[in-house]
Amino acid sequence: MSLTHVSQPNFTFPEPSSDFFSAFRVSWSEQLGTGRSGPIRIAHCNTSGKTYALKILRDTEDARHEVAVHVALCKTSERIAQVVGVYTERYQLKDDLEPFQYIFVVLERAWMDLVTYANKERGLSEQKSKKIVKQVLEALHHIHAFGLVHHDVKPENILINHNLDVVVSDFGFVHCCGSNTRQMTRCTPAYASPEILYSAHLVNKHRTPEHITTSSDIWSLGVTLFAVMSLRLPFGKGKTTVEIGKIMNASVSFSEATWWNVSQECKNVIQAMLQSKPTQRPSAAEILESTWMADVN
Ligand SMILES: Nc1ncnc2c1ncn2[C@@H]1O[C@H](COP(=O)(O)OP(=O)(O)O)[C@@H](O)[C@H]1O
Ligand SMILES: [Mg+2]
Repeated sequence: MSLTHVSQPNFTFPEPSSDFFSAFRVSWSEQLGTGRSGPIRIAHCNTSGKTYALKILRDTEDARHEVAVHVALCKTSERIAQVVGVYTERYQLKDDLEPFQYIFVVLERAWMDLVTYANKERGLSEQKSKKIVKQVLEALHHIHAFGLVHHDVKPENILINHNLDVVVSDFGFVHCCGSNTRQMTRCTPAYASPEILYSAHLVNKHRTPEHITTSSDIWSLGVTLFAVMSLRLPFGKGKTTVEIGKIMNASVSFSEATWWNVSQECKNVIQAMLQSKPTQRPSAAEILESTWMADVN
């Protein structure tokens, strides 16, 4: 598989509809999950009765960018969470003191996110992890071919259905490869690559920021793979000086009992993804072609 860099498309916010509440009924008492932007609700389609996931974002320039990129990417890959509708409405949520302009993003509903699944299974087997990681790599290959970095790859942003079909979601931190943005400082430190920590000035505030590239997503996927198999973060939460030091040195250990029955090929892939130098990490396409991936069913 080769990575063809397509020219960056113009990510324009889709023409929104404004009749969200005539098309859907929202279960305000339930939530599918929660993140930085608040709870993800369940929306019932008034005509079909089908249920969807609903992401509600304050209508800002950043939110419009997130939605525009998400819509463009999901149109061309089934490995990206599918957006089925985008609406804008002036609305007053429960805790709002006044109505605000919101974007209502209606998404195909997944079974659960990968954190919930890994916990339910008490850590994923090598075979299941491989099946899931393969699909995430396909999603990343697609995102990277657009010249984009997802920048928030972690189990919470990977959604699965009952057949272990996987989609990548949450484009809240997506940005163009090689650019630096203020969002650097806001992504999850436990999954952040050494170069992101540098750029976020968490390590050395006098250092010139490094350019963040697609290989940062590969690092985060390495942390994700380690975490879903062992239910441990390889470098801790990335908050204390010691934990940040571990990330900078990329010192990963497979000494725990979880790893005793795991193949050397799998550990090699994790180790390769967790190289401290971004240029030494394999691309999504290279991992997809590795021998470890050969027997995914
Ligand atoms: N399409 C979906 N189907 C089921 N659950 C979802 C869906 N989208 C999001 N979730 C749940 O909501 C959580 C937060 O969604 P996400 O899009 O990551 O929002 P944020 O940008 O706030 O982090 C996810 O971790 C997941 O648990
Ligand atoms: Mg999220």
